[in-house]
Amino acid sequence: MDILVVGSGGREHAIIRKLKESPKANTIYCAPGNGGISKDAVCVPVPVMDIPGMVALAKEKKVGMVFVAPDDPLAAGMVDAMEAEGIPAFGPRANAAIIEASKVFSKNLMKKYGIPTAGYEVFSDPSEAASYIEKKGSFPIVVKADGLALGKGVLICQNLEEAKKALHEIMEDKVFGASGNQVVVEEFITGPEVSVLAFTDGHCVKPMVSSMDHKRALDGDKGLNTGGMGTISPNPYYTGTVAEECMKTIFLPTIEAMQKEGRPFKGCLYFGLMLTKGGPKVIEYNSRFGDPETQVVLPRLKTDFVDVLMAVIEERLEAQPVEWSEESCACVVMASGGYPGKYDKGIPIEGLDENGQIEGATVYHAGTLCQNGQFLTNGGRVLGITALGNNLEEALDKAYSAVEKINWKDVHFRRDIGRR
Ligand code: AMP
Ligand code: GLY
Repeated sequence: MDILVVGSGGREHAIIRKLKESPKANTIYCAPGNGGISKDAVCVPVPVMDIPGMVALAKEKKVGMVFVAPDDPLAAGMVDAMEAEGIPAFGPRANAAIIEASKVFSKNLMKKYGIPTAGYEVFSDPSEAASYIEKKGSFPIVVKADGLALGKGVLICQNLEEAKKALHEIMEDKVFGASGNQVVVEEFITGPEVSVLAFTDGHCVKPMVSSMDHKRALDGDKGLNTGGMGTISPNPYYTGTVAEECMKTIFLPTIEAMQKEGRPFKGCLYFGLMLTKGGPKVIEYNSRFGDPETQVVLPRLKTDFVDVLMAVIEERLEAQPVEWSEESCACVVMASGGYPGKYDKGIPIEGLDENGQIEGATVYHAGTLCQNGQFLTNGGRVLGITALGNNLEEALDKAYSAVEKINWKDVHFRRDIGRR
């Protein structure tokens, strides 16, 4: 079948590369894609949020499947729109994508069904939120905008002053727009963080291998929060015992809860977990594959990816085997100098071959253009240099050896991915 992948980042590049391994995948289209993706797929300049445009493209190309990768089009109902036209689409419908799009929804869901998460209260009035925080008087405390905020809507406040400033920015200045009409004020919890992506068809859930993100911009987990500066898989903290407990207390109860709410979740559900002294707790749900988690998880998938995706879409995941390799995988993100703040674009990248690749590793392009054969930077996160190895050390060595051979003006990357 021909396949259309919606999105333009490193995650989408990793998805496309895995699809290409399947004998069942014919032409792969990507909308809008990027410079590096154009070497692996036919890129079509339809914007990610253009739902009628994307449906028209899927019909024109007569694709057998559409893979909607980013959160915004999922929350806006792109899968619903594809289904209405009879086009098989991978991803949750809008009524299930809300599990990421509204933190008020997801926190209330967890409370109702007894799924472990940090304690919280919801507010739509900033002064009520401030008096609650003042009365509680325990810091740090976490203030979260209800809606999608490009991963920036979470503020950890060390004192009342900071909390008031956060409430003001989110609820009055509306720096995240309508996402800030309500806030969740949450207890601060601690412990190692684990990302677990899971295939689910609404009834059955099959967790993928675990991973660890590195969200801060600088070595030693310093600096600003980013979309993710690197990942490793497996996550060394995620033992078999922890996995069993998560299945029992978090994964299955979440799938059942969504079913009972009349919002069956089909697609990839991302569990952002914290392993606290009191057991694993949910920090956040995402309604999609993570970025850059996908870049280290999918290379370890041994089963035909198209088979797994179709089993999810057709609700027969239970009978579909999903197998993983025992190898480790590491991804080091190379970013533009200044990211996640201001940065320049259009800087020539040195060290890549004509396909945007390099020997010894796989280069997933996150933000590049390709002009007359030259790759240029075109985003904050630019490349994800990824390698498999027999163990984590080997995977990291291979990824970092490749990183050393790639360069551009003001390039920035972390040197401590997976080294904790
Ligand atoms: P999120 O955007 O929801 O993934 O949150 C960003 C980061 O904030 C998470 O990866 C955690 O490190 C941190 N965080 C979120 N909620 C809490 C919490 N309740 N307690 C401590 N840290 C948190
Ligand atoms: N890497 C975190 C996310 O995709 O939300």
